[in-house]
Amino acid sequence: MDLVLHVWRQASPTAKGGFVRYEAKGVNEHASFLEMLDVLNEQLTEAGEEPIVFEHDCREGICGCCGVVINRIPHGPQHGAATCQLHMRHYKHGDEIWIEPWRAKAFRVMKDLMVDRGAFDRIIQAGGYISVRTGSVPEANAVLVPKENADLAMDAASCIGCGACVAACPNASAMLFVSAKVSQLGLLPQGQPERVDRVLNMVAQMDEEGFGNCTNHGECEAVCPKQISIDFIARLNRDLAKASIVGKPKHALAGAG
Ligand code: SF4
Ligand code: FES
Repeated sequence: MDLVLHVWRQASPTAKGGFVRYEAKGVNEHASFLEMLDVLNEQLTEAGEEPIVFEHDCREGICGCCGVVINRIPHGPQHGAATCQLHMRHYKHGDEIWIEPWRAKAFRVMKDLMVDRGAFDRIIQAGGYISVRTGSVPEANAVLVPKENADLAMDAASCIGCGACVAACPNASAMLFVSAKVSQLGLLPQGQPERVDRVLNMVAQMDEEGFGNCTNHGECEAVCPKQISIDFIARLNRDLAKASIVGKPKHALAGAG
C-alpha cells in the first residue's frame, strides 16, 4: 500500500519544528509501524537526507521508549499496545498519517520524534524504590501478601514508563504514572516503611517537573499500553491525603492496601 506521512521534524530542542510530508510507497501490511519508519529512513539516508530520529529498543512493548503520537492518539489506534506493537495492517492504501512527539512541557523534544523523559527518572529517584538489604533471596513464604494485593501490585508494576498518559492528558498530568509507581510498592509489606515519604517526595518531584494535575478526564487510562487503571490515581490521592496529615514520622500508614 502507498501512504502519505506527515512527520514532525525538529533539529534540536530549541529549533522550530514542523511537519514534513513523505510518500511511503509499497508499505508491507505485515511490517510494524517502526519498521515502516525504518524503511523510510533507509530511503532518506540513500537520498542523502537526515533520517527521522525516533526512540526504540525492545520493540515488544516492554521498555517504554518508542511512543509517538499517531493521528492525535498517543501510541496510535490499537488499544492496549505500544507504538512498536502497532502493525501496518491497521491502515489502508491512500491513508494519511500524522506522526509527532509527545507534547508536554516536562518532556522536551530532543530531536524529531524523540523527547527527554528524564523527568520520570527523577520522580522515581525521589522515592520509587524500597531500601532493602541486597544479597541473599528471602524465603518466599516469610512475608505473606494477600492475593488481591499481590495482583494489584503486579498490575501497577506493569507500567513501562512510556509517558503516553502525559501526552494524552489535557493537563499533561503524570498522575497515572506516579500512581502506578507509588502503588506497586504501597500495596506490599516491603513498601510500608517508606510509604509516607515516598508519596510526598514523588508527588513533590512531579510538581517540580512541571506536570499538570489530574482533573479526571481519563484520557491516560484510554491510551495506556498496559491498561493501568485510573483507580490507582484514587489510591495515590488517598495515600497523599493521609501522608499530608501525618507527614513524618515514618511508618504512619499502617497496613498495606
Ligand atoms: S501509566 Fe501507562 S501510559 Fe503512563 S507511563 Fe505507565 S505504561 Fe505508559
Ligand atoms: S520499543 Fe520498547 S516498548 Fe516499544
